[in-house]
Amino acid sequence: MEYLKGKRILLGVTGGIAAYKCCELIRLLRKAGAGVRVVMTPAAEQFITPLTLATLSGAEVLRDLFPSGGSVDHISSVREADLLILAPATANTLAKMAGGIADNLLTCCLLAARIPVLAAPAMNCAMYENPATAANIRTLRERGVHFVGPDVGWQACGESGPGRMSAPEAIFREAADLLLRPGQIRGTMVITAGPTEEPLDPVRTLTNRSSGRMGYALAGAAAMLGWRVRLISGPVTLDPPPAVDLIPVRTAAEMMDAAWREAKEADCFVGCAAVADFRPDHAARNKIKKCGEESLKLTLVPNPDIIRTIAGLDTVLAVGFAAETEHLAEYARHKLATKDLDLIVANDVSSTETGFGSEDNAALMIFRDGREVSLPRMRKEDMALRIISEINDLLDRQSRESAPV
Ligand code: C5P
Repeated sequence: MEYLKGKRILLGVTGGIAAYKCCELIRLLRKAGAGVRVVMTPAAEQFITPLTLATLSGAEVLRDLFPSGGSVDHISSVREADLLILAPATANTLAKMAGGIADNLLTCCLLAARIPVLAAPAMNCAMYENPATAANIRTLRERGVHFVGPDVGWQACGESGPGRMSAPEAIFREAADLLLRPGQIRGTMVITAGPTEEPLDPVRTLTNRSSGRMGYALAGAAAMLGWRVRLISGPVTLDPPPAVDLIPVRTAAEMMDAAWREAKEADCFVGCAAVADFRPDHAARNKIKKCGEESLKLTLVPNPDIIRTIAGLDTVLAVGFAAETEHLAEYARHKLATKDLDLIVANDVSSTETGFGSEDNAALMIFRDGREVSLPRMRKEDMALRIISEINDLLDRQSRESAPV
C-alpha cells in the first residue's frame, strides 16, 4: 500500500560502512509512495557511489555545497521535504549537529531543518559509548531529534556491541510513524482483525481461515486518512501497518476485553475480525488423549458478540462486516439491524477470487438509513481506502447535521 504517497523525504547519508543499507531504505520508502532525495557527505562517497543512490532514488544526488552553477539556494531541498532521515548517522555528523557546525551540504541542511529529523546512529561500539557521543545524542534528543537504534551486535570492525545501524525496515517504520501521526487527528478508531483461537487443550485450538488482510488494510488506510488507530488482532502472520498501535489477542474473550476497554475512549469501532461464535466450555489442562474407538464429544458455549456489545455504546460509530456464502444483501441487512450498526460491509466468501486469504475483495456497503454502495472487485488495500473514506464522509455529514445553525 502506498502509505506515504505525496510525502517527501530528504535522506542524509554519511560516511559509515552501514551506508550500503540505505539502498534498501530508499527502496522501501519509494515502494510506499514517498519521494526521496539524497544528500551525501564527501566521506559517504567512499562507501557508496552517488550513481547508485541517484538510480535508486530516481533523482540527482545532492553533494556540493558550492556547486559550479553558482546556485546559493543550497538548502532548498530541506525546505521542500517533510522529513529528514539521517542514515547512517556517524559519530562525527552527530557531533557537528550538536555543535551547530555546517561544513558540508548535509550539515547545512541539518542546521537549517525546520522539519522532523530522524537519525539512525551507526558507529563502532567504543565511539558510541564515548561520553562525548552520549552527550551529543542526549543534547540532540532534548532538541527534538528522533532516534532509531542503534542495535547491539557484530560490527564490521570485528567487535561486538552497541552501534550497528538499525535494519532498513525498522528505520522505515519509524519514519512512517513520524509522517503519519497526523497533526490534525480525526479521532480514535478501534479495529478488530484476524481470527480468534479458542484452546481445546495446551496444543490444540479451534480457529478459522481469516488471514487478517482486510482488517490490517483498514488499519493502514485509517492511519493514512487521519485516524489514531488501535488494531486489536487475533493471531496472524502480517506486520502491522505503520503508525498503528497493535494490541495482540488470542481468544474471543481477550478480544472482547480489549475492545471494550479501547472502544470506551474511541470515536469509531470497526469489527472486521472473524470471531469464533463458540468456544469449548473448558480447555483441558493436559493434552487430550485418543480414547480407543470412542468418539470424542466437545461441548461448545457461545462467545460474546463483540460488535453488538460495542454498538450499545452510543458514543461510537459501529461498523461491522458480514462474510456470507449466500443471500448476501438480505443477511447483511438483518445483521445491520440486529447488531444495531451504523454501517455493514458485506462480502461473498464463497468466491475463491475475493474470499479469505485472497488479495482482492468485492463488497456491498449498507448504511443505517438504507443507502447502499456497491464496491466492485478491487485490491483489499484499495477497498480499505474506499471504506474509510465513506466512514469519514458519514461522520462529516453527521457533524454538519448536528452543528447549531
Ligand atoms: O454474526 P456474524 O459473525 O456473522 O457477524 C459478523 C460481524 O460481527 C463482523 O463484523 C464480526 O467482526 C462481528 N462479530 C463480533 N463478535 C462475534 C461475532 C462476530 O464482533 N462474536
